[in-house]
Amino acid sequence: MVKICCIGAGYVGGPTMAVIALKCPKIEVVVVDISVPRINAWNSDQLPIYEPGLEDVVKQCRGNNLFFSTDVEKHVAEADIVFVSVNTPTKTRGLGAGKAADLTYWESAARMIADVSKSDKIVVEKSTVPVKTAEAIEKILTHNSNGINFQILSNPEFLAEGTAIKDLFNPDRVLIGGRETPEGLEAVKALKDVYAHWVPEDRILTTNLWSAELSKLAANAFLAQRISSVNAMSALCEATGADVSQVSHAVGTDTRIGPKFLNSSVGFGGSCFQKDILNLVYICECNGLPEVAEYWKQVIKINDYQKNRFVNRVVASMFNTVANKKVAILGFAFKKDTGDTRETPAIDVCKGLLGDKARLSIYDPQVAEDQIQRDLTMKKFDWDHPLHLQPMSPTTVKQVSIVWDAYEATKDAHAVCILTEWDEFKTLDFQKIYFIFFGQMKSLMETRPLLMGGSFLQTFQLPDLVLANP
Ligand code: NAI
Repeated sequence: MVKICCIGAGYVGGPTMAVIALKCPKIEVVVVDISVPRINAWNSDQLPIYEPGLEDVVKQCRGNNLFFSTDVEKHVAEADIVFVSVNTPTKTRGLGAGKAADLTYWESAARMIADVSKSDKIVVEKSTVPVKTAEAIEKILTHNSNGINFQILSNPEFLAEGTAIKDLFNPDRVLIGGRETPEGLEAVKALKDVYAHWVPEDRILTTNLWSAELSKLAANAFLAQRISSVNAMSALCEATGADVSQVSHAVGTDTRIGPKFLNSSVGFGGSCFQKDILNLVYICECNGLPEVAEYWKQVIKINDYQKNRFVNRVVASMFNTVANKKVAILGFAFKKDTGDTRETPAIDVCKGLLGDKARLSIYDPQVAEDQIQRDLTMKKFDWDHPLHLQPMSPTTVKQVSIVWDAYEATKDAHAVCILTEWDEFKTLDFQKIYFIFFGQMKSLMETRPLLMGGSFLQTFQLPDLVLANP
């Protein structure tokens, strides 16, 4: 029986291992993490992450061939295949701060694997890492290997949060990179055999290590670039009277371009796009390619521009001040069907409005109050370091209240910003919000219809976004 251990029980490690356990009942899968609260949650009825379909998969295998544990060293020592799915955040200090990937967590995991191993192992990079990381990891593992053979594979994860289980069940492709030596090819085959339990062979791509590592950064850069492209177009649409949803539809029906990832929005978020592009930019700079670095940097600049533009739009539509005005924020997660708020555009939008002294009433169906308060008080890039996964001493922003109902959030509000495209916001009774709550205000001076934000802009165009009730 093959034993798999995955280091890192996060958004990637948890769902990926749960699906491997479900599809390979004869393989024992143990997911380990240094975070005790996270592992406790994986072993409880309240999983640490919200992902449609995940609970069902976990319930089917937990205790049979799927286990969650904090006994990291024991399970790594016993495993044949070790996946490493720890966080690889943007460095906050030192060389490359604000751009380069921080490999501290990866390196400490690799040193631990080297220390505790007593049998040959395949070590799989599941985390997104800079190209050539495997070379460094190889050096760490083989430095004091005592005759143990380690094979490093790159197996980047392409799942998207919100559709993780669907993506894992039916991936567009699984990518496995390895050394082109007999031992390397054997290791690639061993991992391929795991995925072959449910993924058709023609969707399992094998490459050399560096192509696999770089393909993940490249894929995220291309995806984010599409969003920044359509968002850049949205600014021009507003200036000219074109409708961005019509433009994106017309562009996307060209089969060479395709319709996906072409909704204009308040900007992309999530833990990956910005961090991975910054990392790509840094790698290009280090390789003496400043023009290439500059090209990809622009994708981030447009994203920041879009978030600022959005805040300015709200403030400008309310007589250039939102001081003391209540603004309802519907949606805080970086996209629908997840409770993840890492790098969500809502943070920058809320901070921008708070900077103009607005009062915010925030509702999101999956994000807890302390998470929102933490996000609004935390420094940029600090969120993805394990220390911050632990509960912190409560800090609250006084101008912010968090409520558990969309209508409650909009009550007596001067404006409504929809920042996450949750399905439930599409069926809200906006007439009711407008007439009952806003209609009561006798001093209603501006009656432009409301709306704003998120990929919701697919339905409502940016020029119609603001319900201002000064
Ligand atoms: P996460 O922050 O949710 O999970 C990482 C986990 O690793 C944390 O629970 C942390 O406590 C644990 N950890 C850190 N150092 C450890 C150590 N030495 N020993 C044991 N546990 C340790 O991160 P997430 O989102 O799962 O991402 C993991 C990697 O996968 C990152 O490199 C990310 O870029 C990549 N990725 C993320 C995707 C996403 O949608 N979130 C998609 C594809 C790749």
